[in-house]
Amino acid sequence: MTEHELKRPFNPDTLREIADSYGTPTYCYSEQIIRDRISLLRSHLSGTPVHLSYAAKANVALPILRLMLDEGLGVDAVSPAELELAIRVGFAPDQILYSANNMTDQEMNLAASKGVVMNVGELSRLKRFGQDFPCSRVCVRLNPQIGAGHHKHVITAGRDSKFGIPVEQTDEIKRIVSEYDLQLIGLHQHIGSGILDTDVVWAAIAVMLDVAIQFDSLQFINLGGGLGVPYGPNEHALDLSLWREKIVRPLEEYRGRHPSTDLTFVFEPGRFLVAEAGVLLVRVNTIKETEHHLFAGVDSGMGHLSRPAIYGAYHAVYNLSHPDGELNTYDIVGNICESADFFARERAIQEIRVGDLLAILDVGAYGMSMASLYNMRPLPAQLWLPAEGTEIRLVTARESATELIDRLYPGLD
Ligand code: LLP
Repeated sequence: MTEHELKRPFNPDTLREIADSYGTPTYCYSEQIIRDRISLLRSHLSGTPVHLSYAAKANVALPILRLMLDEGLGVDAVSPAELELAIRVGFAPDQILYSANNMTDQEMNLAASKGVVMNVGELSRLKRFGQDFPCSRVCVRLNPQIGAGHHKHVITAGRDSKFGIPVEQTDEIKRIVSEYDLQLIGLHQHIGSGILDTDVVWAAIAVMLDVAIQFDSLQFINLGGGLGVPYGPNEHALDLSLWREKIVRPLEEYRGRHPSTDLTFVFEPGRFLVAEAGVLLVRVNTIKETEHHLFAGVDSGMGHLSRPAIYGAYHAVYNLSHPDGELNTYDIVGNICESADFFARERAIQEIRVGDLLAILDVGAYGMSMASLYNMRPLPAQLWLPAEGTEIRLVTARESATELIDRLYPGLD
């Protein structure tokens, strides 16, 4: 997909009508695209002992969670609210892995009281868990000391990472597991996000498998998420046949060698399933030409989509009002008081005029879920475009400024 194409089934007419009816800024999510992503991934896992879970942090829109449940995926929850939401959506405790990092005793007790398996990434927490819940089932998150990702902020393994128990401390894990009679039913790792290189993923998995072979109590090995998607014109989609050949097949072969008889593997992607299923609709209110830049200012900003500001992330921008306009080079900037507040820098986009409607593409993952109220700008609305029929559904409404103040400070005059 480029700036000058919209992924089907997003349709320019529908998006323009949505903006007319619901206003901007608005996130829109396509059910069809998510279902297609799931079946694409599954088609490369068919016949293998690999299950899918969904990393809810990518997008917690209710229809997305319901879709994941309907499709039979599990869920990776990382906070009490994600956990409670998953349970209220209908996920059974054994479909949920609770992977909070630096969790409190309260969180640990909450997850345990719900019967959810805990994914523990610190020796001190494992010990505490053992003391409070001896003989219980537990999963341990390892740091295989190999990390990867589209930006250094999203690399979650390796020497400098706060995540997981370093593999060198495997003996300590064994000691605590045995001291408290814990049943180590799972090992987990998640080395980073936005990975398009299969070899590095396998290198990390290989480290983990060497540890896993030492635990015959294992029921699952969770290999995390991290599968990348192409955002920019120079990025290629992940080659899933290669993924199957270089990762899934060796896993199957390993399974035959592992002492546990019912070992399964889990992938828990977020981005891969939902990134391409989201667009953010914004309206242009300002065109400013300076000696060096042509700025198009819009009614949204880094509070609504922070990926460009945090990671310098690339999101294609499509002019829905003038799709056939001549290409010009623009900086698409937001309404937040920070110079990091941009959606695109020096980007060729169809000619933009004040009042134009722009679609920012591939924002279904880590868009709304990372949004903030910075500058007291209320959050965008969210809409669901169902696969069947044409009825668009409101997921969450956009608050007005007054509603936001009233929610934060009820009773204020
Ligand atoms: N499992 C665990 C334990 C995770 O921490 C994550 C993501 C995932 C699975 C899913 O990773 P994915 O398949 O989506 O790559 N905000 C960043 C991404 C941060 C990912 C954090 N953990 C971004 O917008 O690029």
